Amino acid sequence: MPRPVVEITHREEFSSAHRLHDPALSDEENRRLYGICNRDHGHNYALEVTVVGPVPTSGMVMDLKELGTVVQERILAVVDHRHLNHDVPFLAGVIPTAENLAVAFWHQIEPQLKGYAGCRLHRIRVYESRNNYVDFLGPAPVR
Ligand code: NI
Repeated sequence: MPRPVVEITHREEFSSAHRLHDPALSDEENRRLYGICNRDHGHNYALEVTVVGPVPTSGMVMDLKELGTVVQERILAVVDHRHLNHDVPFLAGVIPTAENLAVAFWHQIEPQLKGYAGCRLHRIRVYESRNNYVDFLGPAPVR
């Protein structure tokens, strides 16, 4: 019988400052495009990292504690109580919308999971507020 495939998710919360500003645009164009988000402000974010795979004999797709360690070390340690525009090396040059954060977080976490056989990163979900979140399911497969 084939092993059932299960998604497992680790969630973390963090607080960061940011500002939406495109240096290629004028100050006036930035204000029109981003509104009050063009100003420095902060969010209480949540990050959900989902790994998928068949359930092996151990009963664990991946040890969630180890997934938590990866998320803590690669993301939380770098972004929590920081200014995302200025303080985070892997976000240099990135306009820190939730969409761009989700993509950047994927590229920080995915290489760390290569050593875990039988499972893979499935989704990065970033909540910018209780009501607004974005999902990134990884780069489109090369065809
Ligand atoms: Ni914002």
